[in-house]
Amino acid sequence: MAVSNDSESVVTPPRAPSPAYGFGTLAVHAGAPHDPTTGAVIEPISLSTTFKQSSVGQPVGEYEYSRSSNPNRDNFQAAVAALEHAKHALAFASGSAATATILQSLASGSHVISVSDVYGGTHRYFTQVAKAHGVNVTFTPQIEIDIAEHIRDNTRLIWIESPSNPTLRLVDIRAVATAAHARGVLVVVDNTFLSPYVQNPLDHGADIVVHSVTKYINGHSDVVMGLAACNSDELRNRLAFLQNAGGAVPSAFDSWLAHRGVKTLHLRVKQSTINATAVAKALEASPHVISVNYPGLDSHPQRAIALKQHRDGMGGGMLSFRIKGGRQAAERFCQLTKIYTLAESLGGIESLVELPSAMTHAGIPQADREAVGVFDDLVRISSGIEESEDLVRDVEQALIGAVNSTKANGSNGTNGSA
Ligand SMILES: Cc1ncc(COP(=O)(O)O)c(C=O)c1O
Repeated sequence: MAVSNDSESVVTPPRAPSPAYGFGTLAVHAGAPHDPTTGAVIEPISLSTTFKQSSVGQPVGEYEYSRSSNPNRDNFQAAVAALEHAKHALAFASGSAATATILQSLASGSHVISVSDVYGGTHRYFTQVAKAHGVNVTFTPQIEIDIAEHIRDNTRLIWIESPSNPTLRLVDIRAVATAAHARGVLVVVDNTFLSPYVQNPLDHGADIVVHSVTKYINGHSDVVMGLAACNSDELRNRLAFLQNAGGAVPSAFDSWLAHRGVKTLHLRVKQSTINATAVAKALEASPHVISVNYPGLDSHPQRAIALKQHRDGMGGGMLSFRIKGGRQAAERFCQLTKIYTLAESLGGIESLVELPSAMTHAGIPQADREAVGVFDDLVRISSGIEESEDLVRDVEQALIGAVNSTKANGSNGTNGSA
């Protein structure tokens, strides 16, 4: 395979052999060996930071020091690699650390092309950190259309989020990968919003898939972690070297927790999708709503991409919508929900609501965020795994309350008090 910064073309590495088992079986069993000494069905947490050597340079087993590798991290990585159809996966201390490590793998003077509406923290890293290390990023809202005009001789990487955060725009990964590979450029897809249950970017030609494990993969809002997966040995080794050198690794306990979380990923994402679909339809039918962004709806402008790229055309658990009544109504909505909690983050079992312009995306200049649809009246919802009927009722009462009460100021919010 050829993945070289100097080469003129990138050959997408062949994907790992198709797994013999379905997703749910792999989620439960991949990377989950029974303990060879005790027979424990669930792996023990391996807290030791260091491992005995029988003679100098001869570890008793395969481990030496836990920053470099640890049994719980290895098992978790094996599980997610199987689910992402990847040969390799590397877990990091956060999704942001995975992003930073990929950007650090580029030489000074490199150029990156990114979709415009990326996660706010990714935008911050690209514009305020990568730039300081001589890596420049061009943002484009329509990457499939203008990729050719943005690629320069020093372009090394294309960064895609599909769906994007928080406007749920989709990108045709195969189309971008084909154009990028013809010019020797690698493609990275942040798959956080869908999880490997709904989308496997490597199958569509991406070279690296990244996750904020903090979200769907762990799924219980109690671990901060990230992950990068790929099929190329060379890429894996480059990232693993930087991971060990930089040291942004997750703890054994967090690896164990995230591994426990991923075992129910398929069940959680199925229910989140059912809930998001029901809520998106209710929002679309409401007179208090300007527009709804949800890739599971036929009205989504890129529904055809969802049908091609997502499992069974699923829309996933995330959606956003513009409420009538401006910023004030949007804020009131976020305070009036009883089941949804007003909080950042997403992908957990509990439903969350937030105002991107004032929270997750506040760091992006207003003109830049409005250019990609992040207006002050845009509300983002992360659907948990509660009952659909309860969530729909909650959204409907909050909509009515928010739009009516924008006339009367003041807040008696009951958010998250169900
Ligand atoms: C799409 C996306 N990518 C990456 C990240 C960063 O992940 P972390 O918070 O684990 O560093 C986030 C965090 O919200 C995200 O939403």
